[in-house]
Amino acid sequence: MPRLRLPSLIDVHVHLREPGGEHKEDFESGTRAALAGGITALLAMPNTQPPLIDSASLALAERAAALRACCDYGIYLGACAENIAFAADLAPRTCGLKCYLNDTFGTLRIDADDLHTVREHFERFPKDRPIVCHAEGQMVASAILCAHLANRSVHIAHVSRADEIALIRAAKERGIAVTCEVCPQHLFLSLADAPRLGKGRSEVRPRLATPADQAALWANMAYIDCIATDHAPHLLSEKDSATPPPGFPGVETSFALMLTAVHDGRLTLDDVLARMAYNPRRLFGIRDPEQTWIEVDTDALWQPRGAHMHSRAAWTPFEGWTLRGRVESVTLRGVTVYEGGRFRVQAGFGRNLAPIHQT
Ligand code: DOR
Ligand code: ZN
Repeated sequence: MPRLRLPSLIDVHVHLREPGGEHKEDFESGTRAALAGGITALLAMPNTQPPLIDSASLALAERAAALRACCDYGIYLGACAENIAFAADLAPRTCGLKCYLNDTFGTLRIDADDLHTVREHFERFPKDRPIVCHAEGQMVASAILCAHLANRSVHIAHVSRADEIALIRAAKERGIAVTCEVCPQHLFLSLADAPRLGKGRSEVRPRLATPADQAALWANMAYIDCIATDHAPHLLSEKDSATPPPGFPGVETSFALMLTAVHDGRLTLDDVLARMAYNPRRLFGIRDPEQTWIEVDTDALWQPRGAHMHSRAAWTPFEGWTLRGRVESVTLRGVTVYEGGRFRVQAGFGRNLAPIHQT
């Protein structure tokens, strides 16, 4: 069987639910799930409870992560109207600033009319540190222009539609500093899958888009910098309730889905590694850890099963799909932390990748 040693992956868009939503995921369960997917570093989103918007709330996540993370991690600060004055001071403790410009899970967001807050954050946050925007539709244009006027780059999260990727492509072709990520759910699922998944289990932000949107993402792969999961764990009891929260778990299936696409001739292994290892490290300024790699059986056939997932979400929108390519082992900083479905790692082994950490 073809067993390849490959660089380990970094996922720049992951929701762990600490603090405040540990029944869905915590730093231990989420980072173990990531390791099983070949990911040795993840960047954790700030829409927790409380949201990570100041030193005290950031410290809650830093402490939880220091105690429990099994893979390396960074933590985003959330942007809001109230932290314009001091967000930049916290930058060294974070992997970047996250701006929510549209509604999604949780309360953290910048109001749609509040252009002032967006522009102030873009001016003040260190220009060499990443700003990531949840921006859909017209908000993509707003984010790109505000960044351009502030002489800085911006990273657009989870691009899902043909008009959005066309705008980003046009901006890139004019030399404007914008990068973007696409998630597996928008590459492999569309509205055509929603009836099969059911109402709650197809709820995600950005929403599943049309098959034409899905095709446009594949056609513009050259303009997509990163594949990130937007791993958003919610329990099945929540997804199947009358008020299903949006989001799909993803860290345990993302690489296998992309390897399956390689097998199907849709892109090359180098294309995948560029978007899941090299570009994320470069764009987010994260150095390659020494003695770190994954071993992958590129021919192994397997079926994701929610019941076998390590995430507390314990479900997957790709239930029962036949995927080709499986992570066999993960070595992080010289320690084989995952092998043959078993973990050999202590909670707390993961390191904070921020320039300055406080625990
Ligand atoms: O579907 C989503 N779920 N999209 C987001 O932007 C947030 C996420 C979550 O935190 O559950
Ligand atoms: Zn997200």
